[in-house]
Amino acid sequence: MAKALVKVGIFDSGVGGLSVFREIRLALPTAELIYVADSAHAPYGDRSPAYIVGRSLQITDFLVAQDVDAIVIACNTASVHAVKAIRAGCHFPVIAIEPAIKPAARLSQSKIIAVLATSQTIASESVSNLVASYGHDVKVLLQACPGLVEHIESGDLSSSALRSKLSSYLSPLLEQGADTIVLGCTHYPFLGLLLNELAGPKVRLLDPAPAVARELVRRLNTHLRVNENSNKNAENVGHPETFYSSSASASLKVVIEGLLQRSVELHPLPLLDNLQ
Ligand code: DGL
Repeated sequence: MAKALVKVGIFDSGVGGLSVFREIRLALPTAELIYVADSAHAPYGDRSPAYIVGRSLQITDFLVAQDVDAIVIACNTASVHAVKAIRAGCHFPVIAIEPAIKPAARLSQSKIIAVLATSQTIASESVSNLVASYGHDVKVLLQACPGLVEHIESGDLSSSALRSKLSSYLSPLLEQGADTIVLGCTHYPFLGLLLNELAGPKVRLLDPAPAVARELVRRLNTHLRVNENSNKNAENVGHPETFYSSSASASLKVVIEGLLQRSVELHPLPLLDNLQ
């Protein structure tokens, strides 16, 4: 088989980054995609920044060894804490993701926006900087949502326990008048149906994944002179992709297949000198 034109490494603490993966697949139909789910160490959102940086750098080393042309950090928590350290060791594009506070501030009619994210994302300097830069005209409600990621990691997108946890985070934000909700964790787009149901049709949910995929294409275009059309015309039509996980859980493959709505092959992530 001819070599794919471009190889992209994508990682997250777990399955959340698949919400970014699916947008990248749409934007680059024939690119080779390597996805790493660090499920054995999820959630990152309750870990220390040093731990998050350590895991992110080990996964980056693994992706560099796979000879990728770009890395997408499909995890807000890893991005806000580790992007500088990751970029320092890479000579190719590294695309980070961050809560979409800037577009939310622009779109909000009530001028009250809410950010749902992990505890470590909410506590980060990056989020404080985003609020300082783009929060002049709006009230920004920051809501850490511990416990949601575990439901999604186990494939639960609709149980009553999840619904009541989500509702307890969401209700105070809606009561305060938030009309725009930033999904500041890549796991949360998978709760889109439930969020829409709980928040109602007048509340807008912002998922930055499509913008991340567009930014990846733009950066590859500049770096490698690859664009969507040249990728679509690549000789090896099909979409080579490999999924790795640090967890040996047999049910994870089923969860990934449920989220992507198709079958996948899941490989064990080679040992990365795991931090515990
Ligand atoms: N999906 C991740 C994020 O965007 C991490 C969630 C977690 O592991 O706590 O922040």
